[in-house]
Amino acid sequence: MKEQLNDIKKKAKEDILTAQTESELEEIRVKYLGKKGLLTGILRGMGKLSAEERPIIGALANSVRQDLENYIEQMRISIKKKELQERLINEKIDVTLPSNSKRIGKLHPITQIENRLKEIFLAMGFEVMEGPEVETSYNNFDALNASSDHPSRDYSDTFYITPNTLLRTQTSPVQVRTMRNRKPPIRIISPGRVYRYDQVDATHSPMFHQIEGLVVDKNITMGDLKGTLANFATSFFGENTKTRFRPHNFPFTEPSAEVDVSCFICGGKGCRLCKGEGWIEILGAGMVHPNVLAGCGIDPDEYSGFAFGAGIERIVMIKYNINDMRLLFDNDLRFLQQF
Ligand code: PHE
Repeated sequence: MKEQLNDIKKKAKEDILTAQTESELEEIRVKYLGKKGLLTGILRGMGKLSAEERPIIGALANSVRQDLENYIEQMRISIKKKELQERLINEKIDVTLPSNSKRIGKLHPITQIENRLKEIFLAMGFEVMEGPEVETSYNNFDALNASSDHPSRDYSDTFYITPNTLLRTQTSPVQVRTMRNRKPPIRIISPGRVYRYDQVDATHSPMFHQIEGLVVDKNITMGDLKGTLANFATSFFGENTKTRFRPHNFPFTEPSAEVDVSCFICGGKGCRLCKGEGWIEILGAGMVHPNVLAGCGIDPDEYSGFAFGAGIERIVMIKYNINDMRLLFDNDLRFLQQF
């Protein structure tokens, strides 16, 4: 029996040393020390021993059990240590690895261009002024000197909310609001959405953006208007850009002009962008009509001013050579990501 015990001790020790995990170790413990374990089996057979042998074998069996329990406990500690070590190695974070790249959004091309336009005029001393998109027809038409039979007043051209309120068709009512609330000198730009009863096609949308400019002070002349727009054109389209004024008519400016810039692709020789013209129309402008100044409480004998207005979509399309305005509103990321 002594030998059997020593044998079990030896085998158990070997087994314990092979355990890789706590659960393997537990299996080994059950195999030897469990209720039906090998050592337990031997102890059960002790009844057959003589009275002299029993205490000796009993003591030996107990010391074997004690030893095995100690081995198992030591092994459990070393397995735990090893597991911790492995986890520390496996779960180590390399902070120098590049991170999973995130898709970062960016501003819509219309917003980008609007911001650039603001930047240019802010640098010239203008301030940004905003007005409501729902306007009175008085501010949108009457105060801007539009005759009572002006075609843009038609229900077929303008979205009316009531006979006296409408979705503004232009940013020009911001001129009226500003002049009524402030004394000159006035130097503002006002970007924003405008609405017209237009069918959607490659160059029309019932909603689009304009940017308006207004300067009112003593001794403001057409020369100031030309200088301001020439400076804008070279800042926005490039150093060698020239400007050209063609006579036009707006109710609220007199004289009025449409303003072209020399084509920034071909420099004026004629190409596809400028349709062979060498020039591209970019905005409307003129000297504020005395009726408009007077109607807003500014004495036209003392003050004069100029105004201009441009469609932002049109400028975006020219700048990026986009041939269909609908692309700007479809919100297809494959298109928008290019800008
Ligand atoms: N409001 C005009 C338009 O929508 C543009 C414009 C603004 C013209 C200011 C002259 C001065 O067509």
